[in-house]
Formats: sequence, structure tokens, C-alpha cells
Amino acid sequence: MNLTLKVWRQKDANSKGEIVAYDVKDISEEMSFLEMLDVLNEKLVAEGDEPIAFDHDCREGICGACSLYINGEPHGPMNRTTTCQLHMRSFKDGETVFIEPWRAKAFPVIKDLMVDRSAFDRIIQAGGYVSVNTSGNTIDANAIPIPKEDADEAFDAATCIGCGACVAACKNASAMLFVSAKVSQLSLLPQGKVEAEERVKNMVEQMDHEGFGACTVTGACEAECPKGISLENISRMNREYLKATVSPGK
Ligand code: SF4
Ligand code: FES
Repeated sequence: MNLTLKVWRQKDANSKGEIVAYDVKDISEEMSFLEMLDVLNEKLVAEGDEPIAFDHDCREGICGACSLYINGEPHGPMNRTTTCQLHMRSFKDGETVFIEPWRAKAFPVIKDLMVDRSAFDRIIQAGGYVSVNTSGNTIDANAIPIPKEDADEAFDAATCIGCGACVAACKNASAMLFVSAKVSQLSLLPQGKVEAEERVKNMVEQMDHEGFGACTVTGACEAECPKGISLENISRMNREYLKATVSPGK
């Protein structure tokens, strides 16, 4: 298939960016979207041009490195699919495809399609650690009984890959879905309850400090999340945050 790509090019964080058009030819429907960009980059390098910078790592939907706004949708047109797992059969021969970076104040563009998502790392760091008794009486994690429902909800929250599509999808560039998933995956389990109040307080404060916006309650984050992280996590985090900050003596 042949396509016209309209790609955001930006030299560096301080330069002004622009959309540049490229034609790509003989693209196989079986290629992933990133392989299609690899083909374009090989052509650009062969012609002595600067290749397009974009993030990727595992290319199997688990690391959260890939991103991209494709035709106005984070991770493109397929539900519950990361850009690296998106295949060219989702596009039509002759189509024009717009490719842009995540747009959010807290995710500044580094170059072309790459943005700085280190704000997410700082939020995780602010969450601190889970304390475990290692004095010789350590209880095997598997020996702690956990209700099936809690285990399932914690596992679902833990499938968040930290890609940032929720932020990109939100009109306010809110990071609530990401942060609430990271809070929930620990606070639902007995091991994570020990520092739960401190954790939620510190992570929410760091999130606000990084410049993410407030939740719009539109659900765009859940709709675009490649892992189907539920809005339930946001409600749970709000309850936990309230409890940690306004209960007597806090
Ligand atoms: S909640 Fe979903 S969209 Fe947001 S960072 Fe996690 S996996 Fe990505
Ligand atoms: S490259 Fe790892 S999730 Fe896409």
C-alpha cells in the first residue's frame, strides 16, 4: 500500500515545529506502524536526511515507550492497542495519515515525535516504597490471603504501562488515570496498605506540581487507554486522597 504521512517535525525542545509530508510506498499490510516508520527512516537516512525521532522499546505492548497521536487518536484507531501493536491493515491504500507527538504541558517535546515523560517517573518516585519485614520473620507473599476480587482489581491496575495516552487524550492533560492505577495496584493489597495514605498524598501532590490538569470526568482517558484501565481507579484514588488529607489529625 502507498500512503501520505504528515509528520510533526521539530528539531529540538526550543525550536518551532511543523507538519512535513512524506510519501511511503509498497508498505505491507502485515507491518506494524513502527515498522512502517522504520521504512521511511531508512529512506530518509539513505537520502542524507535526518530520520524521524520516535520512542519505542519492546514493540510488544508492554513497556509503554511507544506513543504517537495518529489521525487525532492516541495510539491510533484500534481500541486497546499500543502503537507498536497497530498494523498497517488498519489503514487504507492511498490514505493520508497525520502523526503527532503527545500534546501536554507536562510532556514537553524533545524532538519530532518524542516527548519527555519523566514527570511520570517523578510521580512514581514520590510514591516511595512498600515496607517489608526482613528481620527473619518475612511472610511469603503467597501465604497472605487476599480476596480474589481485590487481587483481580490490583492486577488490572498493574497492567498500566505508563504510556501517557490518558494524558494525551484528556482535554485538561490530566494524569489521574495513570496515577490512580499506580496508587490502586498497591493500596488494594495488604502489603501496600501500610504506607497507603502517605503514598496517595505524595503522588497526587507531585502530579499537581508537574503541571497536569484536573480530571474532566469525560472518560476520554479510559476510552483511549491501550490497557483498558478503569475510571473506577480514579474514584478510589479520590476517596483515598480525601481520607489521607482531611480526616481528623491530618
Ligand atoms: S492508564 Fe492507560 S493510557 Fe494511561 S499511562 Fe496507563 S496504560 Fe497508558
Ligand atoms: S514499544 Fe513497548 S509498548 Fe509499544
